[in-house]
Amino acid sequence: MQTRKVTAISCANIAFIKYWGNHDAKLRMPLNDSLSMNLDALTTETTVEFDDALENDEIVIGGEPADEKTTARVVEHLNRIRQEAKLNAKARVHSRNNFPSAAGLASSASAFAALTLAATRAAGLELGERQLSILARQGSGSAARSIPAGFVEWLAATNVTSTSEQSYARQLMPPDAWELCDVIAIVSSDAKKIPSAEGHAVAHTSPFLGERISRLPIRYHRVRRELLAKNLQGMGPDIETEAIELHMIAMTSRPPIFYWAPGTVRVMDAVREWRREGLEAYYTLDAGPNVHIIVEAKNADEIAKRVRELDAVQKVFVSAPGGGATLSENHLF
Ligand code: PMV
Repeated sequence: MQTRKVTAISCANIAFIKYWGNHDAKLRMPLNDSLSMNLDALTTETTVEFDDALENDEIVIGGEPADEKTTARVVEHLNRIRQEAKLNAKARVHSRNNFPSAAGLASSASAFAALTLAATRAAGLELGERQLSILARQGSGSAARSIPAGFVEWLAATNVTSTSEQSYARQLMPPDAWELCDVIAIVSSDAKKIPSAEGHAVAHTSPFLGERISRLPIRYHRVRRELLAKNLQGMGPDIETEAIELHMIAMTSRPPIFYWAPGTVRVMDAVREWRREGLEAYYTLDAGPNVHIIVEAKNADEIAKRVRELDAVQKVFVSAPGGGATLSENHLF
């Protein structure tokens, strides 16, 4: 039996309140609630078809067979979906990003969101947004936030009685609610980056994790309130603190993880300088050295121009708020 061929497209996202560490690593249930914006400039497209004639899952990324580690993670996710759909057939999965994979930009959120939508549909399941988000979360935590459109919050569900069903992402505001932009400064495209999974696994070894977690609820509600009020100045200082704090946890874990490159600090300094000159912009980071500069659309061109002029910067991407995971007729095979 050969199932329907299904293609899905999904955006990456940048978090304003970050996910770092799990309280249930196997289910990827996070230690804290997080907030993010989908990025319309960074997308993954994935086509999936289940076929009884296949002996193994066939995973192709950017036209090349996926490496062993990636294949294992995708197969594990396909197994979750096969189990839910009561299906045995192996799958053909072809995926591509619209941004160069060597750009040093994380793609696991867009990848697992697109895979979840395409593979569940190809397997004959018709899951709603919440169920898709719960499933995508188990492939890569932040993928839960790439399922809904626009500005999104992901509920951690950390009570002792909490179940996997309670940790999902939902929309806070649609993408067109606020013309916010992410100007992404690529300072290093080093492909050998430390996977975030390794960082989550050792987060609890940082002596500062408890302090972070105890301070987060107040910060979370303040950023959420300012986001809903569309007040960049109101949320900016907190999103910078948040980025520094995540990296401080990583740097003080055992073993320590250093994601920063010299260019990371240069761009952060420049953003602070531009702010002193009256240009409203705030930086954040994901699990890598590249700097995401959050600005209102009216200032995006000026910031992008200044970022391009910095010696430390190799490439710049500018992204508006993106949509949620959607189906497409444009199959990759
Ligand atoms: O979903 P993961 O395991 O790639 O973790 C994402 C980690 C950060 O990007 C650093 C933070 C976040 O909330 O997106």
